[in-house]
Amino acid sequence: MNEKVTLTPANLTLRHPELGTGPVPADAYWKPEWYQRELDAIFKRAWMCVGRVEQAAKPGDFFQKPIPTFNFNVIVARGKDKQLRAFYNVCQHRGNHIELRDHGHCVAFTCPFHGWTYGLDGKLVGVPDQKAFFDLDKDKLRLKELPLDIWEGFIFVNLSPEPPMTLKEFLGDHGRDLEGYPFERGTAIFEYEGTFNCNWKCMVDSFCETYHVPVLHRHSVKDTLAGPDNPHGRLIDIRLKGPHRTQSVWGNMAYQPNPVQGLAFRNAPGPSVTSGAVDESTKLPKGLNETRAPNWSIDVTVFFPNWIIVMGSGMYFTHQMWPLSENKVVWQMRGYMRPATTAAQRFGQENSMVELRDAVLEDCNTLERIQSSLDQGLITEFIFHDHELALRHQYHVVQQWVKDYEKGLKKAKKAAKKGAGKKN
Ligand code: FES
Ligand SMILES: [Fe+2]
Repeated sequence: MNEKVTLTPANLTLRHPELGTGPVPADAYWKPEWYQRELDAIFKRAWMCVGRVEQAAKPGDFFQKPIPTFNFNVIVARGKDKQLRAFYNVCQHRGNHIELRDHGHCVAFTCPFHGWTYGLDGKLVGVPDQKAFFDLDKDKLRLKELPLDIWEGFIFVNLSPEPPMTLKEFLGDHGRDLEGYPFERGTAIFEYEGTFNCNWKCMVDSFCETYHVPVLHRHSVKDTLAGPDNPHGRLIDIRLKGPHRTQSVWGNMAYQPNPVQGLAFRNAPGPSVTSGAVDESTKLPKGLNETRAPNWSIDVTVFFPNWIIVMGSGMYFTHQMWPLSENKVVWQMRGYMRPATTAAQRFGQENSMVELRDAVLEDCNTLERIQSSLDQGLITEFIFHDHELALRHQYHVVQQWVKDYEKGLKKAKKAAKKGAGKKN
């Protein structure tokens, strides 16, 4: 802990010359037409996290995950064969929802409208008064299934019936380098949720730079994540891996907690998220605090497009953003802690939760003002600080995904036209 701490120079962006250093156009943060292109190119093609395996641990367990962006719910169910499957919550008779509970246990799903029944594998197994239908082929009327795969106990789905790549390929080094973190230990969960009038990317951005820490968080976490040795909230490091990115956040090891905080930090199972202490019992994966800096506090890891895990050595929490339009987003936050075994530990956790909530509310506080400036055309480009590289990277990845997808479409159209011409 007494090792000499050196401040990271402002040259992170220069490691990625392809991203440039100039201002970034702000069109993509408010234009409705661009938003529609993002839905097709990104949200309908990228793997997105919908929950954890513990939420459907035994055969017959299920949970629902609302996908606000597209206004439907996904059901994740564990079959008798122990396999997890994801289905649209849509009855194949006339479209009613087959399950209304947000989680539970069952042997089959029975639609509460006319009683069509589906097995946990999605097969249509029962149709009341079946003889009165015309040529009903039950085999063709399975629940519509979504591609599902798992990374480190997190369940991902893809809205494309034929995803452009596997989850493993999609996560690449980013996923590989974070494997081994004890995610499964965080079974004590707390949640916050809200809807904000802002673009989804602005919300991602608000959690992905610490340049704002000494100013915006001057009444909360400023002295834990910045300090006299790091007055402007510089990062330790940032790693860009494909469309994903991880930044390691500096911690002020000289921070002296106030008496209540001190008590809380000592008693949280795993340190409080803002305490800056490292839990020695946790073996960190390679990709977490990758430079092994002694003054590390947390890593902010962004899984493109809409999921962030903030990982400390004893606790982690996630943010997920579901856009509703070019200037509206649903934000969901989940914190995962190890269950407290004493009242003192529970107190420590509660302290972490409220400290975190206060800091996050400060982050959210700027968003609607930024969006009104964008919507009114009063800001037309963003000027990024070197340590705001994550924001620059997000901008470029989004542009690239839209460009690549549309290029692929054009190519396919051209090939189809050529094929049709040959036939004639
Ligand atoms: S809509 Fe489900 S049984 Fe009719
Ligand atoms: Fe912040």
